[in-house]
Amino acid sequence: MEVLIRETSSGVAQAAADIMCEHLSPGKVLGLATGSTPLETYRELIRRYEAGEISFSGMKAFCLDEYIGLPGDHDQSYRYVIRNEFTSHVDFNDADVHSPNGMSDRPWEAADEYENAIVDAGGIDLQLLGVGRNGHIGFNEPATSLASTTRVEILHQQTVRDNARFFDSEDEVPKYAITQGLGTILRSRQALLIATGAGKAQAVHDLVEGPVSAACPASVLQLHPNAVVIVDESAASQLNEVEYYRHMEAMRPEWKGLDGLPKR
Ligand code: GLP
Repeated sequence: MEVLIRETSSGVAQAAADIMCEHLSPGKVLGLATGSTPLETYRELIRRYEAGEISFSGMKAFCLDEYIGLPGDHDQSYRYVIRNEFTSHVDFNDADVHSPNGMSDRPWEAADEYENAIVDAGGIDLQLLGVGRNGHIGFNEPATSLASTTRVEILHQQTVRDNARFFDSEDEVPKYAITQGLGTILRSRQALLIATGAGKAQAVHDLVEGPVSAACPASVLQLHPNAVVIVDESAASQLNEVEYYRHMEAMRPEWKGLDGLPKR
């Protein structure tokens, strides 16, 4: 795992966009996250697209998760949010932007179909991730099997409370979701988790330096062969090895081109 620390959330967005831009070519598949953290990254990608620097033409995207029971045109459905915040502002073909069908009356089957659709697309090249305060990724809450595939999840009470800020009241927050599983996320060819703000500091510590444990689902990224975690200073504030992570990054250019050493 590589940990990059930036002073501000905009530095996090720049670094995340830089890595995403390494994966932009026709036929490639992006895994997209919702939540507030990736918004600055999406804005940076839109800026680069408008400047003529990048294109998403010929690419596919799969959202990480979707609430059960919100129609796709509800402004808090992730299907809507990902279009509103990102894909409709760039040259993604709308039909190639996928999300789980949260309106299916057989959500378990919809989850299996989604997992199969990811496999059929050739798997995810780069999976962007945020993290919940309790360490969830996608909607994989504590106690999720580390090998889970896309499935129905019961949202943690804290997640419902945290996400109530996007709704008029807590009662309106759906209590179930379809989410890519931790096993699904592990099969992405590159995982990129971003976190900002002191509210994420404990989760960042647990996922980077804690044991691999379903108690902190994001810690499964320690098993990912190609995971990068980008955090701002506040989110890094509980990490023990900050100086080493900075040193690792400073030394990285020397790795480049050396056989047998990871590029990232
Ligand atoms: C939601 C999403 C996650 C996201 C998390 C954190 O529950 N399902 O994908 O990472 O919230 O969101 P935020 O970035 O707004 O803190």
